[in-house]
Amino acid sequence: MPVVTIASPKGGAGKSTAAVILGTELAHAGAAVTMIDCDPNRSLTLWSDQGDIPPRIQVLSDVGESDLIKTVKQHDQDGSIVIIDLEGVASRLVSRAISQADLVITPMRGTTLDATIGVRALQLVAEEEEALDRSIPHAVVFTMTRNIRSKQHNGIEASLREQGVDIIDPSLIERAAFAALFEFGGDLRTIPPQGNMETAQANAQGFAEAVYARLRGEAGESAA
Ligand SMILES: Nc1ncnc2c1ncn2[C@@H]1O[C@H](COP(=O)(O)OP(=O)(O)OP(=O)(O)O)[C@@H](O)[C@H]1O
Ligand SMILES: [Mg+2]
Repeated sequence: MPVVTIASPKGGAGKSTAAVILGTELAHAGAAVTMIDCDPNRSLTLWSDQGDIPPRIQVLSDVGESDLIKTVKQHDQDGSIVIIDLEGVASRLVSRAISQADLVITPMRGTTLDATIGVRALQLVAEEEEALDRSIPHAVVFTMTRNIRSKQHNGIEASLREQGVDIIDPSLIERAAFAALFEFGGDLRTIPPQGNMETAQANAQGFAEAVYARLRGEAGESAA
């Protein structure tokens, strides 16, 4: 089963949030999901420790460079979808997690600073592709977006598209419900209502479906 690596050297880009949204939505749709927390700051572990995580999800904590590949292989074979969450750095662990991926997702806010640092994730993917001599599908998802986009965001998106970067639609909009996942644990169906939950759920589901379509090879232009 597929391995999805969420990677960006930019701290606070929305990696762990994207990981939790993806994992909980896939589990809700019936998939078994293994989430691997490779971040020493343990965001996923803190989320799961709050309790109430959907039954089809397991979270593995404190997985490091020496045991990542073994862990991925084990859970790849048990039929679950594997999601790897990483620290906001460029490191050997990050490159190793990219090397194991069937899809790398780089969450990115639509600002110049975030994009400048975020595209380094795409360079890391290119390096692994070269080292392994295989193409590694990868995509960017814009995070914390607003209904009215800034010129800056539109410019960044247009420029990435011109370079052939696959951009996941829908983006993850800025919603209190998404931030609240880490406050309460659980998923969008179990947390106390925050703002318009239907909008948040529809956004989360749309994102997970767009990712799943890529895993099935059905969507997204490969940037390879
Ligand atoms: N779509 C969103 N709507 C609202 N808040 C968000 C959204 N995405 C992320 N956040 C908030 O932004 C902050 C950073 O998000 P997150 O922890 O997911 O980023 P990260 O890339 O995993 O950070 P790190 O590099 O530290 O691991 C958190 O407080 C999170 O709750
Ligand atoms: Mg994180």
